[in-house]
Amino acid sequence: MKRHAIEDSPTPRIRDGTPEAGADRRFADDVRAGLGGDEKSLPCVYLYDARGSLLFERITLLPEYYLTRAEYEIIGERADEIARMAGDPVRVVELGSGSAAKAVTLLRALAKANRSVTYFPVDVCDDVLRKSVVGLEEDVPEVEVRPIRARYREGLASLPGVGQVLLFWLGSSIGNLDRNQAASFLCDVRDRLSSGDRMLIGIDLRKDTKTLEAAYNDSAGITAEFNLNLLRRINRELRADFELERFEHVACWNPADGRIEMYLESRSQQTVRIGALGMTVNLAPGERIHTENSYKYMPNEIEALADRAGVEIEEQWFDSGGLFSLHSLRVGGSSAHR
Ligand code: TRP
Repeated sequence: MKRHAIEDSPTPRIRDGTPEAGADRRFADDVRAGLGGDEKSLPCVYLYDARGSLLFERITLLPEYYLTRAEYEIIGERADEIARMAGDPVRVVELGSGSAAKAVTLLRALAKANRSVTYFPVDVCDDVLRKSVVGLEEDVPEVEVRPIRARYREGLASLPGVGQVLLFWLGSSIGNLDRNQAASFLCDVRDRLSSGDRMLIGIDLRKDTKTLEAAYNDSAGITAEFNLNLLRRINRELRADFELERFEHVACWNPADGRIEMYLESRSQQTVRIGALGMTVNLAPGERIHTENSYKYMPNEIEALADRAGVEIEEQWFDSGGLFSLHSLRVGGSSAHR
């Protein structure tokens, strides 16, 4: 059996792609820029601190949040097929790995197919990475785990070792970029990969408004809590005085752009002070801070996306309810970029 990274030390060694000091400054700059203007917004990456990541895990278990269940169904059915397609050795990189619960099924299938696997979970949240590594040691001891705490780009840039790359980008995370950003990000990823490498991407499909809006505004209020946690984080890390009960979580479907839009809406006229930024923010009643988009795709839009990114759709799989899709995208050898 292969040595597991964390057997060497009581706490897993996490490669750090974003040094803490720089990350703090970046957060401060992004909050200043996002709340400084008339159209207020905050980057969604900051939703995932330790508490946010735990809340997101709870979202994935909600009855209204069909995405995770549908994706699990596809992965459960196709894991062996995906494993047979993979090279040996294989470096599995997962962008935004979270609890790594979905990866476990795929990693197990790869191990069963006798592939020699190194798994590189990439996530911005330290806590969640640590926990996932401990879980993986028990679930798939055959797999060497090398966690990387970083944003997507930094994580991909620091990938060591040899072997075919199988990149997981699951949970409709691609939907949190706009359509142009998604195509150009896929392009950048492709340029980092080599001919024959693959990406496995989970993409949510367009569907009726009611189903979509319920998934982002659950009756238990976990999604609201998750969204509001961003203000809690700004209070803690930037010494702000946001009163959470004076904001409301809003999620609405925008059919023209094919996306769910998430906001924190001010319930009243209010002034918030952000101590660490020496800044005050005025909010009118009903004024919104945009925190996230979740784009939904039609099959032809996915084809256009792959086209623009210069990758080939090798396989596409759907769940039995036709709600969600998983795509195997292959990097070809004839690209003019290489
Ligand atoms: N990638 C997830 C999605 O688009 C992220 C997500 C789910 C999310 N629920 C949310 C982001 C609520 C912000 C708020 O489905």
